Amino acid sequence: MVLLQSLDALANWQASLVWHEKVTGFVPTMGALHEGHASMIKLAKRQSEVVVVSILVNPTQFNNAKDFETYPRTLEGDMDKAQAAGADAVFAPSPEALYGGQPEAIPVNWGALTHAYEGARRPGHFDGVVAVVDLLFQAVQPTLAVFGEKDLQQVGVIEKLAKDWHPGLKVVVAPLVREPSGLAMSSRNARLSVQGATSALALHQALLAVQRGAQDGGVVQAVKAQRAALTANPAVTLEYLDVLDALTFEPWKGRGQEARPYVVVAAEVEGVRLIDNMPLTA
Ligand code: PAF
Repeated sequence: MVLLQSLDALANWQASLVWHEKVTGFVPTMGALHEGHASMIKLAKRQSEVVVVSILVNPTQFNNAKDFETYPRTLEGDMDKAQAAGADAVFAPSPEALYGGQPEAIPVNWGALTHAYEGARRPGHFDGVVAVVDLLFQAVQPTLAVFGEKDLQQVGVIEKLAKDWHPGLKVVVAPLVREPSGLAMSSRNARLSVQGATSALALHQALLAVQRGAQDGGVVQAVKAQRAALTANPAVTLEYLDVLDALTFEPWKGRGQEARPYVVVAAEVEGVRLIDNMPLTA
């Protein structure tokens, strides 16, 4: 596996491989790789001949400078994990090299998709995601790119970005990976104590209850009951629990009318912001 730290290094390596004649897979990440990322790399490897993993902590998608500064940067360990999962190259340019100067993001307004839920809680976040992923797609020019279902709203945004700006590029969604306990895997889980990780299971349980409610035809009541349970839980600070159409992030209007109904949750446990989701049809 090779480490490519500039656009030139990437282009030279791709030329040596005759990149455009191959089925190529791409997994964009911000590093701090865990089992969830490994499953994304493995999925890319199953569907392509060559796989590039990018590692770049993207400044334009953070709305909090301290969050950006303290984001874990663990390139060496990440390279071992990427290689073990089957990556052929890690592309890790500096933000300035990728953006061609001071990193900046142009505002993007795709309605609820960029401005509701995560977009509302983290203003400007999806502007930064769109900016960096667009630049990464231009640089890597893959056949397919893998994104994790865990960041469900990001998947919707990237699908629109690919459709409108990179037609022909296939977006592959890697299923959310859970700890044996049920906790959705996330780089942020490392900041939870053992007790916090146990408290966080309340989110998974709430999603399961809403999923059951949907299957029994009582989704509205299930959402109300689970919102009340999470609000009453002293270990959890609930931001939202809702059912929506994951294609648009517009509210759910009833069974059968949406292409991709999901229940989503965001909450803080021990000051760590966690998100999770579950399809309503499973
Ligand atoms: O999901 C992430 O890790 C990031 O948002 C992404 C897609 C790599 C863009 O920086």
